[in-house]
Formats: sequence, structure tokens, C-alpha cells
Amino acid sequence: MASLLVAAVLLLIRSSKASTIDSFNRTHGFCTQLDIPVFATADSAIYDIPRVDNNIEARAWAIYSDTWSTPGYDQRIIKNTTTSGTFNIHAQLCIPKFFNKKKDILQIATHGVHYDSRYWDPELDREELSYVEASLKEGYSIFTYDRLGVGESDKPDAYDVVQAPLEVEILRQLTLMARNGTLYRFARRAKPTFTALNKVEMPSKVVHVGHSWGSVLTSAFIAKYGDLTDGAIITGYVLNQYLGKSGMASWGVDYAATSCPPFNRTSGYVVCQKSGIQNIFFAGDVHTAYTKGMLEYGDAIKQPVPVGELASAYHVLGLPGPSLKAPVQYMLAEFDFYICGGDCKGIFNATAANNTYPNAATIEAYIQPNTGHAFTLHNNATAGYQVTFDFLTRNGL
Ligand SMILES: *[C@@H]1O[C@H](CO)[C@@H](O)[C@H](O)[C@H]1NC(C)=O
Ligand SMILES: *[C@@H]1O[C@H](CO)[C@@H](O)[C@H](O)[C@H]1NC(C)=O
Ligand SMILES: *[C@@H]1O[C@H](CO)[C@@H](O)[C@H](O)[C@H]1NC(C)=O
Ligand SMILES: *[C@@H]1O[C@H](CO)[C@@H](O)[C@H](O)[C@H]1NC(C)=O
Ligand SMILES: *[C@@H]1O[C@H](CO)[C@@H](O)[C@H](O)[C@H]1NC(C)=O
Ligand SMILES: *[C@@H]1O[C@H](CO)[C@@H](O)[C@H](O)[C@H]1NC(C)=O
Ligand SMILES: *[C@@H]1O[C@H](CO)[C@@H](O)[C@H](O)[C@H]1NC(C)=O
Repeated sequence: MASLLVAAVLLLIRSSKASTIDSFNRTHGFCTQLDIPVFATADSAIYDIPRVDNNIEARAWAIYSDTWSTPGYDQRIIKNTTTSGTFNIHAQLCIPKFFNKKKDILQIATHGVHYDSRYWDPELDREELSYVEASLKEGYSIFTYDRLGVGESDKPDAYDVVQAPLEVEILRQLTLMARNGTLYRFARRAKPTFTALNKVEMPSKVVHVGHSWGSVLTSAFIAKYGDLTDGAIITGYVLNQYLGKSGMASWGVDYAATSCPPFNRTSGYVVCQKSGIQNIFFAGDVHTAYTKGMLEYGDAIKQPVPVGELASAYHVLGLPGPSLKAPVQYMLAEFDFYICGGDCKGIFNATAANNTYPNAATIEAYIQPNTGHAFTLHNNATAGYQVTFDFLTRNGL
């Protein structure tokens, strides 16, 4: 009975999605949905992580992680391993409707934890909120994907498989597929027929955009593989003394398989309660920064997080990137609670950024006013996107 109920709820969630045709034909472009088999291999580890199989264990895991005397995960490696496999990655490729000189520039956007690729493209109000729609309007092509363990991509073991180094390698493979034309060839075979692609063989330039954990991964990717990017936009993340200080207890997690609504996930996947979504993602003046509808939507599209992903974070944080020559923009939300302890003003350290990417063409930081961590779900979102597009244009992108 219970499993029937779960199946019915999942079915409802599925059928409430926009039809294929609606998601295909946009005001400023065309978008196609893809399922891409991606082969990747990366260093991994079996960590000593508490098991999470119910709500009590989920909250205990957060408290244990936050406790000052808990050893770091680099101290809790049981065994070093290598993970290899072909993973199904669900993605969306969008091409602008009208020919322009930016069409050959492809943005590859990586979303953060607690969300899937819909973060970039909220159906709630695409004209005012969607980064995808704004990019198409500006003339860029844009590729968004559900990271491993999220949305409609594969959801392997939460402890030993979904880990940060593997996610960086998946981003690398997707980038290589974009650069050598495989991605566009793949998209041409999608239904409905994607004729908008017929005039483009492959992108001439690739810009990497991240949000939050997606920015952690993007920062590691541009550090390791600097010559694979032509520009990086790091949103909602910068290494600083307040990063993560509010702790994982502030997420208010449930065990995903039995949360309300339940997710079809195995052991070790946790999901925020609605209060956690507000704590992490929404901030600024409560009367002007965002609406109740945006908070409701932000809760409705939330996604579970595998605990092994967070355990492996130390592996990819702050990697030096001497090979990076491309320009980098840091886009910070003024009142970002999780990243900046609630106030990003005065946080950005240009010397530290220069040391990390000593050969970058330029490194700029911008603070989007009266906004919380989820840029795309705040009132002034599109004005912030324009600041990013202006930065790209100034740098020949
Ligand atoms: C739940 O996920 C498993 C593994 O991904 C899949 O085989 C199964 O069909 C899913 N069940 C439902 C009800 O979607
Ligand atoms: C896309 O939608 C617009 C209106 O929004 C319509 O004029 C146009 O014919 C549609 N194109 C296709 C290919 O469906
Ligand atoms: C795992 O690898 C790290 C880094 O190479 C090393 O410092 C550590 O001792 C190894 N741990 C185990 C349990 O093999
Ligand atoms: C393009 O890159 C992908 C990912 O690395 C690779 O699997 C594929 O073989 C490459 N294709 C061509 C035609 O080079
Ligand atoms: C960072 O590097 C840029 C370009 O080399 C330079 O103009 C700027 O002064 C540097 N900033 C700091 C704080 O070192
Ligand atoms: C900025 O970063 C540099 C290099 O890591 C460090 O020496 C300096 O103390 C930092 N400045 C501040 C204000 O934290
Ligand atoms: C909206 O964002 C733009 C770009 O950052 C900024 O210039 C403007 O002041 C913001 N407006 C409000 C009302 O916060």
C-alpha cells in the first residue's frame, strides 16, 4: 500500500512537468532534453560516514558533521579507491532563435546541492527569473545538466560513488563532448527534431558557469583543466572564513526516501525541510527581495543530496589553477547566509584569488544587492545576469 502511494506521488510529480513541446519552443530559443551516457573515472574513497536510513539518523549526521571535534574526512578514509563507469546524465541544450555572433559560444552551467538543473531555468517565471532564457535572449547557447545523483540523472550509491572528483571528471567529459561536436551530433538526433542546430557544428568557445556546489566543482575543473575553458562565472561561492559556518544542521534534513513528499532514493540521500530551504537560499529584505511564491517554488523543486558528495569536498576545495588563462567573474549574493555568514560585502580577497589563478586574464567580483544564495529565485535576478553578460562581452565572449 505504502509503495503504491509512493508510486502514485512520483507519477504525479512526473506528469506535472511541462510538456516536451513547451520546453522545446522558448521565447528566445529552442531547447532539447537529452540523456547522455558519460564515461568517467576518478579517485574516490570509502569514508567512515555515519549511515543515514531515517530522519533521526539524518539530523544526527548533520550534528556530527558540524561538531568541532569531529575529524575531517581526509582523516576518515577507510580505503582509497578508483571509481569508473558510464553514467546516464540528463541534460538540456538550448540554442538562441535568432542568428547572432554569440550563438557559437556555449555556456555549460553546473547547479548546486539541494537542486537540479531547473535551478537555472525556473518554470515559475522564465522571463524574469530563468538564467537559461536570459542567456538565449542575450544570444548565447546554453547547456544545463542534472549532476550525478540528482534529478533525472543516475543516482548511484550515496556513500562510495557520488563524490566530488568523479563529478569534476563528468564535467570534463561533457566539456570534451561539447568541444569535439559529439554533444551537438547527439542533440541533432533528439526528438522533436532540433533543426536549430543545423547551422552550428560545435561551439567555438565554452564558458563554464557554476552555482554554489556547482561553483566548487567548476572552480576545481578550471584549476585542473584550465585550457578547456574560455571563461568562468563562479556564482554563490568563494573560499572565505565564513564559508559553511552556519553548519549543516541549518539545512534541517530529512531522510529522502521517507520525507514528505518521498523521493525514490537509497540509503544516505538527505533532503531539506522547507525551513532549511529558506535558511540556505532566501535572504534580503523580506518585502522586496523575493516573493512567497518564489520560496514555495524553491521548496517544490528541491532535490536530495548524497552524503558522500559532501564528505569528499576537501578533495576539490581551493585547488591552484596556474594553467587557467581565461577571465573569471565571482558573482556573490549580498546576503548569502551559507557562503558569507549572511553578508558578502568586504569578503572577496583579490590577492587570494590572484594566487589561486595567477595567469587568469582578469578576475572580477560583483555583489548582487538584496539577494540570497539562490540568485534565480529573487526579484532582481535578470539585472544580475546582465552584469555577468556585460563582463563576458567586455572579455570578448
Ligand atoms: C526507483 O528507482 C529505481 C532505481 O533507479 C528504479 O529502478 C525504479 O523504477 C524507481 N521506482 C519508481 C517508482 O520510479
Ligand atoms: C514557437 O512559439 C511561437 C510563439 O511563442 C510560435 O509563433 C512559433 O510558431 C512556435 N514555433 C514552433 C517551431 O513551434
Ligand atoms: C589515501 O590516500 C591519501 C592521499 O594519497 C593518503 O594520504 C592516505 O594515507 C591514504 N589512506 C589510506 C587508508 O590508504
Ligand atoms: C569526443 O570526446 C568524447 C569525450 O571525451 C569522446 O568520448 C569521443 O570519442 C570524442 N569524439 C571524437 C569524434 O573525437
Ligand atoms: C590581481 O591581479 C591583477 C592582474 O594581474 C592586478 O591588476 C591586481 O592588482 C591584483 N590584485 C591584487 C590585490 O593583488
Ligand atoms: C587575503 O589573502 C592573502 C593571501 O592568501 C592573505 O595573505 C591576506 O591576509 C588575506 N587578506 C585578508 C584581509 O584576509
Ligand atoms: C538590481 O540589480 C542591479 C544589478 O546588480 C543593480 O544595479 C540594482 O541596483 C538592483 N536593484 C535593486 C532595486 O536592488
